[in-house]
Amino acid sequence: MPQDSITDTSKPNAGRIYDFVLGGSHNFEVDRQAAEKLIDAFPFLPKTMRLQRWCLQDLAVELTEKRGFDVLIDFASGLPTNDHLHLAAPAGTTIIYSDWDPIVVEYGREIVKGMPNVHYFHADARHPEELLNRPEVNEILKGRRDVALITWGLAAFIGDEDISHIADFLHGWADKKSVWAFNAQAAKDNPHDPRDARILEYYKQIGAPMNIRSVDQYLKLVKPWHPDPSFISFNDWHGFDPSYMTEAEIIGAGPGGGGYGAYLRK
Ligand SMILES: C[S@@+](CC[C@H](N)C(=O)[O-])C[C@H]1O[C@@H](n2cnc3c(N)ncnc32)[C@H](O)[C@@H]1O
Repeated sequence: MPQDSITDTSKPNAGRIYDFVLGGSHNFEVDRQAAEKLIDAFPFLPKTMRLQRWCLQDLAVELTEKRGFDVLIDFASGLPTNDHLHLAAPAGTTIIYSDWDPIVVEYGREIVKGMPNVHYFHADARHPEELLNRPEVNEILKGRRDVALITWGLAAFIGDEDISHIADFLHGWADKKSVWAFNAQAAKDNPHDPRDARILEYYKQIGAPMNIRSVDQYLKLVKPWHPDPSFISFNDWHGFDPSYMTEAEIIGAGPGGGGYGAYLRK
């Protein structure tokens, strides 16, 4: 688990770099310099990161207004800046954010401070029982388990056995009506495509090694949950404007650069 402090500006922090790339203000010079180097090397990254957040906002609307959930529990949330769930979901929705990075949690709490029904906790998403068994979370949920669960931008950073454990635990914990919104950072064809090597090497260097899998691998790992209706590429996401990414950016992002999402049911 990262043990950095929010005040440590001696080295860049992945959460603050992500915040800068998304246009946020919770970052330091050291993060901005690292982010600029990253964008120089991978110019498509700001767009793919924004696309991931845009899909997250869209699913906040789908889960609340269309599927009727009024409690959203989000694992590995990152910074809840102005494009996260609580700004897209209707007022009054209970939102439980969480992350394992203490810097992200501290900034996250600062951002949501004073917002009714919006909470931020420290928890390792590989063990969802950590968050869901917290007394403060039990106090908020008051025994309710008919909730929407979300893991977005996480799967590539954790192992196969972690995803299987999350799936098993949540399946046992959640109500039969619950939905798990799952982002599969998946390759369309070949999860070992050499065109992904550079970006994989970069994430390894910053201490966040990534696994690129196929959608079929994900379908097996999330069992007994199943997608309703199916995994959808971000480039085919509801309301997506196809002119957002140029051909060159799609090619640059490589086969592992895109993402897929699904609403999983029990
Ligand atoms: C790419 S960001 C995704 C943020 C947000 N969910 C989104 O889609 O925009 C990844 C986040 O996952 C967090 N993370 C990675 N592994 C984690 C773990 N095992 N438990 C909790 N958070 C984790 C990181 O600290 C980081 O904030």
